[in-house]
Amino acid sequence: MSGGLFVGLMSGTSLDGVDAALVRLPEAAPTDVDSTLQLRSPQVLAFVHLPFPSSLRTELLALNTPGTNELHRAALAANGLARVYAQAVGDVLAAGECSAGSVTALGAHGQTVRHRPGEFDGLGYTTQLLNGALLAELSGIQVVCDFRSRDVAAGGQGAPLVPAFHAQVFARPGQDVAVLNLGGIANLTLLPGEAGAQVRGFDCGPGNVLMDTWCQQQRGLAFDADGDWAASGEVLPDLLDIALAEPYFARQPPKSTGRDLFHADWLANCLADCLAGCLARRALWTPAAQDVQATWAELTARTAISALQTHLPRAGRLLVCGGGARNRHLMLRLAALGQSHMPGMQVLAADSEGVPAEQVEALAFAWLAQTALRHQPGNLPAVTGALGTRVLGALYPA
Ligand SMILES: Nc1ncnc2c1ncn2[C@@H]1O[C@H](COP(=O)(O)OP(=O)(O)OP(=O)(O)O)[C@@H](O)[C@H]1O
Ligand SMILES: [Mg+2]
Repeated sequence: MSGGLFVGLMSGTSLDGVDAALVRLPEAAPTDVDSTLQLRSPQVLAFVHLPFPSSLRTELLALNTPGTNELHRAALAANGLARVYAQAVGDVLAAGECSAGSVTALGAHGQTVRHRPGEFDGLGYTTQLLNGALLAELSGIQVVCDFRSRDVAAGGQGAPLVPAFHAQVFARPGQDVAVLNLGGIANLTLLPGEAGAQVRGFDCGPGNVLMDTWCQQQRGLAFDADGDWAASGEVLPDLLDIALAEPYFARQPPKSTGRDLFHADWLANCLADCLAGCLARRALWTPAAQDVQATWAELTARTAISALQTHLPRAGRLLVCGGGARNRHLMLRLAALGQSHMPGMQVLAADSEGVPAEQVEALAFAWLAQTALRHQPGNLPAVTGALGTRVLGALYPA
């Protein structure tokens, strides 16, 4: 059985917590026109966001960088994640007034703590922590997880995986549409309107991660609510130029990234380089913290619009999803840069298409679970660079 109720579970690089979406997906294959139309307005029965306990968040953040006794700590963190995911499942089922027995499967992303595809031995790896067996045990529902490894095994980046779902929901015949997911990292999906044209996508750079990091360091807050702090600052041109010189931005897709690159040290190095440049010119540099925040917001907006201009220059609309869509200042900067670089393009939150911005990624993992159960491919080789399409995920029966 492959149709029916699914729960998609997503916890991304922002490390804010887990999103759970309870959704009814059509029985028929998505190539069927009717079911594609159903996916256009996915029937979401309930959605919950469950923040991570701060001890788990701290440990997950620590596991993003090399440390002592990692195997032991990662195993315990994977248990902790399964417990939080199971609680989110319980909460979303209660909100949707559904029983566990009525759910076909959970599609669970897990927590990326390392993402190094194509490195080291040429294949590299990507690691999403989650004890899938424990999640099946606690929820009583079959679990599909570990979606990315198979694509990496086939020589791909293992990311992004959401473009296939974005295509089902947001593509418009006759109009070029782009989807920008602003999670910790930002990824773009390119949906050409021309019949038969290839869907593409890649991680374009930082989403919220630098803004969140700086906000945490300077103000002790997890994020800059509505972008108000960034909006109170002025962009620092020298710092922005140094950040824009990061080679990742100029790399051709397929490409994907994470906290492995855009971490607190990357941010500190940009600031140190800027300070060194000023000292060399015998100038003083004491930037205001809000100006630095404005610069990280500008970097996110600039790199996204610049990648879009390069790869889908005739996009008529840019649909923004992920928590970053709730950052008013960032949305205004995307709209302003879009206006000057791609006149006529509309910049809208995904809500305008009937899917709340923060629900999109969780829905994608519900759909990927269904796709796995159908033994259908979940990856797009044009996106990830894999040798071919592959059925993704590992299954833990109920
Ligand atoms: N009201 C808001 N104002 C500003 N930023 C917000 C607001 N609400 C959420 N955010 C940002 O969104 C982030 C969470 O977004 P999201 O959950 O989409 O990211 P993620 O967990 O990294 O997910 P993914 O990897 O799936 O893209 C927060 O860390 C914060 O930076
Ligand atoms: Mg999140």
